[in-house]
Amino acid sequence: MSRTYIMLKPDAIQRKLAGKIIERIESKGYVITQIKVMQLEPAVLKEHYAHISDKPFYPALESYMMSGPVWGMIVEGENAVQGMRQIMGATKFEEALAGTIRGDFATSTTKNVIHGSDSEENAEIEIKRFFG
Ligand code: PPS
Repeated sequence: MSRTYIMLKPDAIQRKLAGKIIERIESKGYVITQIKVMQLEPAVLKEHYAHISDKPFYPALESYMMSGPVWGMIVEGENAVQGMRQIMGATKFEEALAGTIRGDFATSTTKNVIHGSDSEENAEIEIKRFFG
């Protein structure tokens, strides 16, 4: 068993997709052990996206991530980091396959409805960042 940090992004909440996305997570056998509604600020986003904060798309990403509340979640289960990334689908809009969360719901690479940690090490860092 392992755990990961998942975040439903503002477009998921605004489009009322949270129920559909959570159903997929739970149907796959994962358990949501904590959930928190948050309005993100620039400082925490700069930290969370430190590896891409110098990219040209960062200002648009930051304003999108602050455009409404997000739902942060701790998700636990078998191989949670990789398993969740599989059901989420690829980051890039054109690569996200039908049947994955992003493949079915994302409308662009920026508005891609969900974030999931990319390693167990980062999962623990992100859980600490958002849940303390
Ligand atoms: S990379 O290759 O290092 O840029 O990708 P990654 O580490 O996966 O982080 C990308 C996150 O930035 C969001 N984003 C974009 N990525 C690429 N191109 C564009 N135009 C873009 N706009 C936003 C992308 O959704 C990833 O967010 P997270 O929350 O990590 O899924």
